[in-house]
Amino acid sequence: MPTKPSTKLWGGRFNSEITTETEDFTQSIEVDSRMVAHDIWGSQAHAIMLARVGIISDEDLRQILRWLGKAEEDFRDGKFFLKPEKEDVHMNVESYLIEGAGREYGGKLHTARSRNDQVLVDAHLVTREQILRTQEGTSRLCRVFLAIARCHVETVMPGYTHTQHAQPISLGFWATAYVSMFIRDLKRLDAAYALANMNPLGACALAGTSFPIDRHLTTKLLGFDAVHEHALDVISSRDFIAETLFALSMLMSNLSRLGEEIVYWTTYEFGMAVLDDTYAFGSSIMPQKKNPDIAELTRGRCGRVYSALLDLLTNLKGLPLGYNRDLQEDKPPLWDAFDVVQSCLGVLPGLLETIDFKTDRMAELANANFATATELANYLVREGGLAFRECHEIVGGIVGDLVKMGKTFKDWEETQQLLQNRGINLAIPELQRILDPKLALHSHRSLGGTSPTEVRRMVDGFEGKLDELEAQIRTRQDGIQAAHQRTLQIIEQVLAGTPIMEANL
Ligand code: ARG
Repeated sequence: MPTKPSTKLWGGRFNSEITTETEDFTQSIEVDSRMVAHDIWGSQAHAIMLARVGIISDEDLRQILRWLGKAEEDFRDGKFFLKPEKEDVHMNVESYLIEGAGREYGGKLHTARSRNDQVLVDAHLVTREQILRTQEGTSRLCRVFLAIARCHVETVMPGYTHTQHAQPISLGFWATAYVSMFIRDLKRLDAAYALANMNPLGACALAGTSFPIDRHLTTKLLGFDAVHEHALDVISSRDFIAETLFALSMLMSNLSRLGEEIVYWTTYEFGMAVLDDTYAFGSSIMPQKKNPDIAELTRGRCGRVYSALLDLLTNLKGLPLGYNRDLQEDKPPLWDAFDVVQSCLGVLPGLLETIDFKTDRMAELANANFATATELANYLVREGGLAFRECHEIVGGIVGDLVKMGKTFKDWEETQQLLQNRGINLAIPELQRILDPKLALHSHRSLGGTSPTEVRRMVDGFEGKLDELEAQIRTRQDGIQAAHQRTLQIIEQVLAGTPIMEANL
């Protein structure tokens, strides 16, 4: 065996290099390239803390900060590439620093830190940022639904159960259902954000450290809400990612259901909506085609997000406590899930803003196929003092007879006659009123029902909720930016010669 010393930063005890094949197998450069800026911020905060508590000197800090700044600049300018032979983002940044500042300075950054807490810092920083971005996109989509709802509180359409006509609802009611769902998605993302916005730095390899580090200081510098204290728990846990992936999975499920509805609403058979040409696709062979590919891809990509969750959960289930290299595999599914969800959120608002709802067709369908049968039963309960179950049977019998005769409620004389046969006398105009879908819509005024008054009230409520959520997203984004700015200002002071003890933290 050749006995050339390893060139790795961790290579002290090794006498030979790993093969290129092994290197390729283990490196995470592509995935890590999303975390370069975050890794550098984490290192800046760590270095500032080390100097502030006296673990490294002012000169050490100056050198470290100078070269970390340069690494970031070079990365931005495309002059600093992550090298696979250096394994991951952490080793690349540290190597850059050591090559620039020399080992006597650069080699001190990793005091009282491990890649195990370092990678978590990066992942937490990326996750919280991406959660906020996903929330922004979700809220934007909600706003589009609310605009649709405002225009269509009186637009009657068939509501379905079992994909069979059930009862008339309004298009506005349908639209607000999605908002109601998405607001829960926003809340789930919020819960995930709370876990993501905790500081893992200082857990070190798994046991904390014998150096007198200040974890509260790095928490403040990195804009985290709190310290995630228990070092072994910090290093072992990825539930902040699992929680995020579940929130993304549920959101994606809701987007996929929307996709499904768009697909069949735009069929010739349903004809309830027509896509704008900007959001539709043709066929390479059939010249007449106008396909809902965006809705289909939204539905079709749902599995990718679910599989991300399953991937992570499966990864975690057998892991002993502490860091295990398996955990490196937490990021690819997370990135992919964010990408898929955000790309759907990017395109669906425009699709919905431009879709042409065929309200005449909706009204026609809402008026067909006995969709107001429940109203007739309810009328008999109210006016005839009969038990609902009895009225259900009477109306069911009438529907059955009409179907056998090939007739509908709108064959008024037959309907009237069938009622009369059961001892119920109703004038035709009265019957028409009872079975009018629009009137049925207006009468459903129970809390959360489909009546225009309820839908308007809910739209107002949802708007208020979204205002609050959007304000919170902005506050958080501003908070993160302010924390980053504060770190940069400290760096500026230090590089200008201010001793860290006099720097304004
Ligand atoms: N690239 C690793 C990851 O993503 C970083 C942590 C490596 N730690 C270790 N002891 N090998 O998880």
